[in-house]
Amino acid sequence: MSNNIEKKIQDKISTELSKKQRKRTLDDGFKKNKVVNEVLDKTTVLILYDLIKSKIISYVNGVVKSGKESALFWAVGPDESNLALKIYLTSTSNFKNRSQYLIGDPRFQRIKKGTKNLVYLWARKEFQNISKCYDCGINVVKPIHISKNVLVMEFIGHNGKPQKNLLESEVNEDDYHQSLKIISDLFHKAKLVHADFSEYNIFKTENGLKLFDLGSAVDLEHPQAIDLLKRDINNISNFFVKRGLTVENPVDVFERIIK
Ligand SMILES: Nc1ncnc2c1ncn2[C@@H]1O[C@H](COP(=O)(O)OP(=O)(O)OP(=O)(O)O)[C@@H](O)[C@H]1O
Ligand SMILES: [Mg+2]
Repeated sequence: MSNNIEKKIQDKISTELSKKQRKRTLDDGFKKNKVVNEVLDKTTVLILYDLIKSKIISYVNGVVKSGKESALFWAVGPDESNLALKIYLTSTSNFKNRSQYLIGDPRFQRIKKGTKNLVYLWARKEFQNISKCYDCGINVVKPIHISKNVLVMEFIGHNGKPQKNLLESEVNEDDYHQSLKIISDLFHKAKLVHADFSEYNIFKTENGLKLFDLGSAVDLEHPQAIDLLKRDINNISNFFVKRGLTVENPVDVFERIIK
């Protein structure tokens, strides 16, 4: 065999071997309790497996968005419905900033220590908040299920692409009034303050606005509830002002809501 051909065969073998090697580290990585795709650790995969077994979901299509503290997956339910899985990361979560939205809320007086438990508690808190609003008839995403760090809800959007939020949409006066109505309904009907109410966390749909991302929402008994309400009103008012709309004085809106 000429040296040339021998070298070609050698190269081919090396390439094939390194391909195999790469594959093996992927499969093995899972066994060693490593995080797959930065999101799914072994416990989370087992939760997804349980959700499939208990027929809450049929299968997972894939990741839609991956953030620092959570990732959003698109899944399909047994009835072919589109579902969103918000998976809170247990490895990289930084919960220092979040404790202020837990401590002081009468619903969460016994807080277990440890990052994982805090993440589970936060996910459960978001589920409870969404459920409460949903039961009160407020326009929020429909909650389906909570299991540790995996929150299942209806998917808002098409073909795995989330609906545009207010920031990504054209907005008008009606959107402004709907936003204020949601804040007011949260306060009076669900007895909650969203605490992260902004153009990022509201979908604009054909059937009006839909609120999501309710992890931070606090009970009205929370000592900061009133300040957080003021902040929510200010934030959304600023957004509509930036879009060129004339808005009511936020202080007047606040006074009217708490009356
Ligand atoms: N039910 C849903 N259906 C479709 N898309 C969703 C749904 N919930 C969330 N998303 C998409 O996932 C993104 C992140 O969700 P969310 O706002 O709840 O998390 P977050 O904690 O703010 O995460 P991040 O800080 O990474 O934005 C949203 O901007 C939205 O595009
Ligand atoms: Mg958000």
